[in-house]
Amino acid sequence: MPDITFDINGTPVTIDAENDDALLYLIRDRLGITGPKYGCGVGVCGACTSFQGGELVRPCIVPMSEAAGQSYTTIEALAVDDVLHPVQQAWIDEDVAQCGYCQAGQIMTAVKLLERNPNPSDDDIDEAMSDNYCRCGTYHRIRKAIKRAAGNG
Ligand code: FES
Ligand code: FES
Repeated sequence: MPDITFDINGTPVTIDAENDDALLYLIRDRLGITGPKYGCGVGVCGACTSFQGGELVRPCIVPMSEAAGQSYTTIEALAVDDVLHPVQQAWIDEDVAQCGYCQAGQIMTAVKLLERNPNPSDDDIDEAMSDNYCRCGTYHRIRKAIKRAAGNG
């Protein structure tokens, strides 16, 4: 298998992988970074949502041939010096998670929403979060947490 190098949470890694191995498999199973979850595996549910460069990405549909040389961030890198990101703190304050399976992807998506729109309306939130599915139905608390993180909670 070829060696492929990419950056994950600020650390360069080189790993042997087939070119069509999905990045999510390498992140979770080979590197032990388990924040991004495997939900659908086809880029639909949002459970694996992370950042590539500064943008949202779904690593379940990123083959290693595309991941090589790129830079990725998972929820593990959101907190800085053990201080939670404001969105993570808002999630705790609003007690958002139920089973928790979708929540890392939800938080990563919410972080990007607030970066481009620091004061989102309910409609803005619903639109931005509409491709992240929560089988437990925590959407109401997700909305409250995003408003809290925006300073409107
Ligand atoms: S597991 Fe990646 S979007 Fe569903
Ligand atoms: S909290 Fe269970 S799937 Fe979202």
